[in-house]
Amino acid sequence: MNASDVNDYNSIALGINAPIYSFYAGRILEKTGIASGLCLDVGCGGGYLGLALARITTLDFVFIDASPEMLSCATVNIATHNLTTRAATLLGQVQAIPLPDESVDLVISRGSIPFWDELPTAFREIKRVLKPGGCGYIGGGLGDPKLRAAHMERMKKEHPEWHGGQRKIPRHDDRHYSDALESAGFDSFTVTRNDEGMWIELLKAKM
Ligand SMILES: C[S@@+](CC[C@H](N)C(=O)[O-])C[C@H]1O[C@@H](n2cnc3c(N)ncnc32)[C@H](O)[C@@H]1O
Repeated sequence: MNASDVNDYNSIALGINAPIYSFYAGRILEKTGIASGLCLDVGCGGGYLGLALARITTLDFVFIDASPEMLSCATVNIATHNLTTRAATLLGQVQAIPLPDESVDLVISRGSIPFWDELPTAFREIKRVLKPGGCGYIGGGLGDPKLRAAHMERMKKEHPEWHGGQRKIPRHDDRHYSDALESAGFDSFTVTRNDEGMWIELLKAKM
């Protein structure tokens, strides 16, 4: 994305899309039950999902993204949300996460996985940094049907240049995700595609 796209993306995420991040943050807490420890938000962009999860938990956060421009937005957003004592940013790729083994309780990610190359390597890295018993909630979507409809309506009116799929995102098929998760050694995971989007829930087995 160029600088103007990054700014647009950031203001849409903080405005029109804010309820979508809150929705998924609630889902993550409900599904994983992890409310404390360290959370890694992968392909965080401006940190929107982690920031929403921070509001309903006492988790600390590492926000990682491959784009310095998006990570700059995350740095500003973390400060605006008064979360500097609970959050750090990392420039890097999911395929080589610059964190120690077994250092993270929860890995979250929204809207980034379609862009990941070398999926088995990415999941192997996620498995490496997760503590035994740690969870992942990784995928994408626009919330539930009501939130999705509200998003579509506002985007059409307020941001027609972003509406209607002009900005195509790549897509892996779900079998590709399952194969990559198996190849990374996860034996407990689900890949679900429904009216809340596509989400992978994974668990790293305790020793
Ligand atoms: C569509 S944005 C999603 C941002 C944010 N998570 C959200 O939900 O709005 C995708 C993000 O994934 C990042 N990304 C893409 N490939 C990546 C990779 N291999 N490792 C880390 N980040 C990556 C991009 O830089 C971008 O910020």
